[in-house]
Amino acid sequence: MKNAIITGASRGIGEAMALRLGQMGYNVVVNYRSNSSRELAETLAARLKEEHGVEAIAVQADVSRYADCEKLVQAAVDAFGEKIDVLVNNAGMNSRSPFCELAREKYTAVLETNLLSAFHMCHFVVPYMVKANGGCVINTSSVRGLMGSAQQADYCASKAGLIGMTRALALEFAKQNIRFNCICPGMIATDMLRGGDPKAIAEQVEAVPLGRVGSVEDIADAMEFLIHNQYMTGQYISPNGGNYMP
Ligand SMILES: NC(=O)c1ccc[n+]([C@@H]2O[C@H](COP(=O)([O-])OP(=O)(O)OC[C@H]3O[C@@H](n4cnc5c(N)ncnc54)[C@H](OP(=O)(O)O)[C@@H]3O)[C@@H](O)[C@H]2O)c1
Repeated sequence: MKNAIITGASRGIGEAMALRLGQMGYNVVVNYRSNSSRELAETLAARLKEEHGVEAIAVQADVSRYADCEKLVQAAVDAFGEKIDVLVNNAGMNSRSPFCELAREKYTAVLETNLLSAFHMCHFVVPYMVKANGGCVINTSSVRGLMGSAQQADYCASKAGLIGMTRALALEFAKQNIRFNCICPGMIATDMLRGGDPKAIAEQVEAVPLGRVGSVEDIADAMEFLIHNQYMTGQYISPNGGNYMP
């Protein structure tokens, strides 16, 4: 049996990825942070079992905290054993503020939630993948980590940082057959997008050549491709409607 851990899976992109992992036959550890998301995460775990016949558990952990990541990975090992085939570092928070008004606490939280969380999770998971001589890590970055965005220095830095980390770890662990890749979504219809300024969002959608936001399924498709394609490592793929072309 194949096992996967996905962070930030109670809603949005993470939820769609968790469902896709179940469809692909993975046992899934569904991570969430907030008490208010417990029911969502537990319902998702139940759905994975019912609809896909896999094992699934919901585990609360704030992945910006090192100790919580240790507990999360231990919960995965207790439930499914030491074989962790796939880790998806997806948890993230958005941020938008004029830089001079951006509080130190805020940008620290953004970097801890979006970037350091992936370091913590890899720190605990990669040793198991080394032991197993294989694994696949996918980090949810963002098109903003590629192209930048005014008033989002912390968010863009965190997402660009994930790409750097992905490349370095891909090189370091290639011999152990552990692949690291990023997905850099464009604008995707989730709570995160809905939480933004509607006027700014409408302007941004207009700048997307395909003229619309993407769906969470578009990102789950990218994840599935990265899991299947054994020759992909150290790369990013960016389903973004043509918004950014490197
Ligand atoms: N939507 C977009 O347009 C877009 C574009 C590019 C990149 N992304 C990236 O895609 C990822 C998912 O975004 P989304 O749009 O699906 O966001 P979302 O709907 O706001 O969901 C965010 C998820 O992350 C979890 N989370 C946040 N902080 C966490 C923490 N410290 N520990 C554990 N879980 C945490 C949330 O858990 P709770 O429910 O418990 O709060 C929730 O499950 C993020 O990394 C985001 O930056 C999104």
